[in-house]
Amino acid sequence: MSFSTQKTIRVLFVEDNPGDVRLMRLFLLGAEGIGPIELVHVDCLAAAIAQLRGGTHFDVVLLDLSLPDSTGVATLTRLQEASPHTAVVVCTGFDDPEFAIDAVHCGAQDYLVKGQGDGLLVYRSLRYAIERKRLERELVEAKRIAEDANRRKSRFLASMSHELRTPLNAILGFSEMIKEEMLGPIGVEKYIDYATDIFDAGTHLLGLINDVLDLSKVEAGRFQLLEEEVDLAELLAACLEMVSETAHLNHLTLIAPPSRGLPHLRGDARVIRQVLLNLLSNALKFTPPGGVITVHCASSIDGSYIVSVADTGCGIAPDALDKVMDEFQQADLTVARDHGGTGLGLPLSRRFMLLHGGNLSLSSQLGSGTTVTAHFPADRVSMPARVPA
Ligand SMILES: Nc1ncnc2c1ncn2[C@@H]1O[C@H](COP(=O)(O)OP(=O)(O)O)[C@@H](O)[C@H]1O
Ligand SMILES: [Mg+2]
Repeated sequence: MSFSTQKTIRVLFVEDNPGDVRLMRLFLLGAEGIGPIELVHVDCLAAAIAQLRGGTHFDVVLLDLSLPDSTGVATLTRLQEASPHTAVVVCTGFDDPEFAIDAVHCGAQDYLVKGQGDGLLVYRSLRYAIERKRLERELVEAKRIAEDANRRKSRFLASMSHELRTPLNAILGFSEMIKEEMLGPIGVEKYIDYATDIFDAGTHLLGLINDVLDLSKVEAGRFQLLEEEVDLAELLAACLEMVSETAHLNHLTLIAPPSRGLPHLRGDARVIRQVLLNLLSNALKFTPPGGVITVHCASSIDGSYIVSVADTGCGIAPDALDKVMDEFQQADLTVARDHGGTGLGLPLSRRFMLLHGGNLSLSSQLGSGTTVTAHFPADRVSMPARVPA
């Protein structure tokens, strides 16, 4: 592409040294290979800002950083405040090139050292600066659009889940009444089975909807923890009780720590229960019959506390380890399809732990098992008061 076919570029040249002004004019005006340029010269920052605010359009500012009324990177910062969308090429003397590098970090599109190069080099620098600024604007705009779309998605998920929950309440409530024959005997046994299936499927669906609702709330920063003192021994026993039948049916051995000596955790009981249940249900889901699932609890030297769930199941391939902590990601789509699930358990659990100031970590060996660990920070851990003997 030849520059000479380009449209005129309007340059605001900010330079206080008359010798440098003359040299730049010689460089830029009329030299071979250089496209049309309109150069407006001012000799201080105040005059440059007045030009930019005056309504005249400039494609690019060629800016000396050491001016009578401003020096260093502050010159650039003040200029950008006056005209954030104009490209800037910084021009410095031999003795202050580090200013120029700082200036690029602060948003200048390029820098030139006075007296180096020739007109074509300066011209190229100006043109590329204009292009770069345009791309930068497009990226910023694309980011804004993506963030906006993400916010809308979260709002949509939140209102959608809310709308789905309302009819589900009727389905759950009435199927429960029917299966329990609350208003009198049904007579046909098969109907009780059907009502039970409706109730179970509805309960499952409610769990999924609640996960989506929780995630959209966490994403929007609107999830409020209901802080209370949680007895870990009690909570763990309740969770193990909930999964023990499935473990038994799948010929899996559940090993739990002794409940004595487990601490109290300050946190949201429902949320912590959900984290533990998610980890346990994954362990159950991804461990073949005959396997062992071990819950391990321990405190660290720094006073923080961990609860981990280890299994002897299929494990997760190394390249999928990072992925499975992201929303809707599953390590192996074929396995996931066999097992069902939406890929929300781990990411939601991790976000729940982050809300508690802790974290969730994952280690796994393909073919031999997975350990998922919930970390609680020290300030949430306290040992229960000892009951006198
Ligand atoms: N204990 C585990 N053993 C093997 N793979 C696991 C285990 N826990 C999680 N995974 C992998 O991580 C993925 C995401 O887990 P999760 O977020 O709980 O979603 P879901 O259980 O709905 O698939 C699972 O689909 C599975 O591929
Ligand atoms: Mg899961």
